[in-house]
Amino acid sequence: MLVLQVKPQQTKVLCVHECKMKNETNIIVLNKINKSFPLSIGGTQQVLFDINFTIKSGEFVSIMGPSGSGKSTCMNIIGALDGATSGTYELYGKDISTMSADDLATVRNEYIGFVFQNFNLLTKRTILDNVMMPLMYRGWVMNDRITRAREMLRLVGLEKFETYFPTQLSGGMKQRVAIARALAGNPKLILADEPTGSLDSKMGNEILKFFEKLNKEMGITIIMITHEFEIAQYSHRIIHIFDGRVTYDGPVPKSELTLLKSEKQK
Ligand SMILES: Nc1ncnc2c1ncn2[C@@H]1O[C@H](COP(=O)(O)OP(=O)(O)OP(=O)(O)O)[C@@H](O)[C@H]1O
Ligand SMILES: [Mg+2]
Repeated sequence: MLVLQVKPQQTKVLCVHECKMKNETNIIVLNKINKSFPLSIGGTQQVLFDINFTIKSGEFVSIMGPSGSGKSTCMNIIGALDGATSGTYELYGKDISTMSADDLATVRNEYIGFVFQNFNLLTKRTILDNVMMPLMYRGWVMNDRITRAREMLRLVGLEKFETYFPTQLSGGMKQRVAIARALAGNPKLILADEPTGSLDSKMGNEILKFFEKLNKEMGITIIMITHEFEIAQYSHRIIHIFDGRVTYDGPVPKSELTLLKSEKQK
């Protein structure tokens, strides 16, 4: 059984407190977001077109859409890891374009737990070190960091592997380390890019049930990219992206056909 012990937040910073964390607060506001990338042959390729949506504190949202539709690009903007080419983005009540690099780093470190599509683990550090890493940025003392990281590794069933390096693990195990790391610091917002893509269905469902618990019982906001309609059932809202545009934004429909049909309407 998955059990989570919550350590009191040791955070101090700005906007999350300023905008009074409570349900019904818009924590993410994307307004006419466009994103283009330069092409090696010259010119640019536009990947996102006029993306508009808001996400409230306490929501559990799935972002779906075909490969290459722009889901990770959108997630990178939401996590303030990349900037939009045009449009405005407010995170926790602040236009991110007005925030300093330090403030952005602080918000990322202290409030957001990332699960990246390619895991982004530090290959030269043990998995215990990897899971402890965000806690160091949050100023936790060493003993607390170790205790918490072990607790998280137990949660994802990897407690016996703490001295292993990521290269010694399977894809599914690396994914579980990435999830343990994302959850270690009790983030208020989890951004997960296909968090169960490399897991068997039993472990995938365990992780999703845990996400559901974090969302329901602790009010943690979760935004998750997934290709699987079955996985999206854990969330209560789907944003479907097709060719860089939102084609559906609403409750989880009865059938995936609704999402596929939305692609044709654009
Ligand atoms: N850093 C980059 N430089 C140039 N092009 C990029 C970059 N990142 C993404 N793209 C392009 O943007 C488009 C959307 O990519 P993105 O990774 O957002 O898709 P995705 O929906 O997450 O796909 P998948 O489901 O396969 O992960 C693709 O055509 C991709 O080639
Ligand atoms: Mg992607």
